[in-house]
Amino acid sequence: MIDTLILGAGAAGLFCAAHTGGSTLVVDHAKAPGEKIRISGGGRCNFTNLHTAPENFLSGNPHFCKSALNRYTQWDFVDLVDRNRIPWHEKTLGQLFCDDSSKDIIRMLVEEARGAELRLRTSATAIEKTPEGFRVTLDPGGVVACRHLVVATGGKSIPKMGATGFAYQVAEQFGHQVTETRPALVPLTFGDAMKERCAALSGLSAPARVSCNGTSFDEALLFTHRGLSGPAILQISSYWREGERISVALAPGTGVLDTLKAQRQARGRTSVPNALAEILPKRLAEDAVDRAGLSGNLADQSDARLADLEAAVRAWQLTPTGSEGYRTAEVTLGGIDTGGLDARTMESRHVPGLFFIGEAVDVTGWLGGYNFQWAWSSGWAAGTEIAARGVGQ
Ligand code: FDA
Repeated sequence: MIDTLILGAGAAGLFCAAHTGGSTLVVDHAKAPGEKIRISGGGRCNFTNLHTAPENFLSGNPHFCKSALNRYTQWDFVDLVDRNRIPWHEKTLGQLFCDDSSKDIIRMLVEEARGAELRLRTSATAIEKTPEGFRVTLDPGGVVACRHLVVATGGKSIPKMGATGFAYQVAEQFGHQVTETRPALVPLTFGDAMKERCAALSGLSAPARVSCNGTSFDEALLFTHRGLSGPAILQISSYWREGERISVALAPGTGVLDTLKAQRQARGRTSVPNALAEILPKRLAEDAVDRAGLSGNLADQSDARLADLEAAVRAWQLTPTGSEGYRTAEVTLGGIDTGGLDARTMESRHVPGLFFIGEAVDVTGWLGGYNFQWAWSSGWAAGTEIAARGVGQ
């Protein structure tokens, strides 16, 4: 019997394996460890965020993430990255990226976890509880007996990369509740008219404040052939539900009406799109004028018409028809109900020795390095707890 079996060699599983001590086996059905780390952050892995705080996470219980995030912080991970001499930089909003490649982080994690055996191209297919621990069926490999079992198989996002939802199955098998799961940090899609508008503007990116259900994000908005994307949209997708509207304010922080009125007085013969192009990219300015139904020069516009144009720019109301789904979602919102887990250790309250970490748990971070920080913090919490119990206990 081994001390610890970790299912999943992603961010959380690898980091947990670096701390468990004793005999530890990590299995993953992928052909390489940390595949999502590899593709993350455009190949440079946004590995944490300087501003990480519980407020940056969504969960049925917003307090659950506090203990792990406080005990293993973003600063602890930055120290580790520094000790491994991995060069990094802050891009924006506290987001830390590797200077060179996300592979630096994978190499570091594999090296940190060198005390554990890593077995790839191996699936966990069934789990059975025994008086001493667990018997887990591996394919290939047969049955492995372990004292502690850590489920780190992630969520449902990007099935092409090996996401399975296996963690939810295991949780339910052992009497845990699983909250509703949905794709998050995902582009939003629209009906035909808006889709056409987006396609015409495809490739264009502009700063925006996007709001839904009382939450707003000030980041870039990107038009694509399928709808809207970019950081502002990915962020708001975690708060949006089917049938609800989102509000888009283009050119946030700019006094649109005042600028247009001043221009009307100074240069009344300027066309409205040209005047608005002082504030917005030209194509977007033309689109806003079209949506507001204005034509002619600035001098032809009444205050009321300019106010309509301001509304088209600053209060664009949109009702998405859906999202691009798990195919492109960066994370899964929802998951294993935190009510059944110990917030300090990630251990099941129903089954001693069983741990759930990482994205599988109902803790979802904002875009910007928060999800990896949750993987590190929750993996650390479980790994150090197992180590503290000592070998063979
Ligand atoms: P993760 O999904 O990483 O690992 C789970 C592992 O379990 C996988 O390796 C899988 O193969 C394996 N597995 C599943 N079922 C199994 C089974 N039955 N048997 C054996 N193995 C099994 N976050 C962030 O903070 N900064 C960023 O820059 C990005 N960028 C980013 C880009 C893209 C394209 C995506 C899809 C996601 C991100 N993320 C991100 C999110 C981040 O990747 C994610 O939150 C973490 O990888 C979650 O770590 P886990 O270890 O929990 O799951």
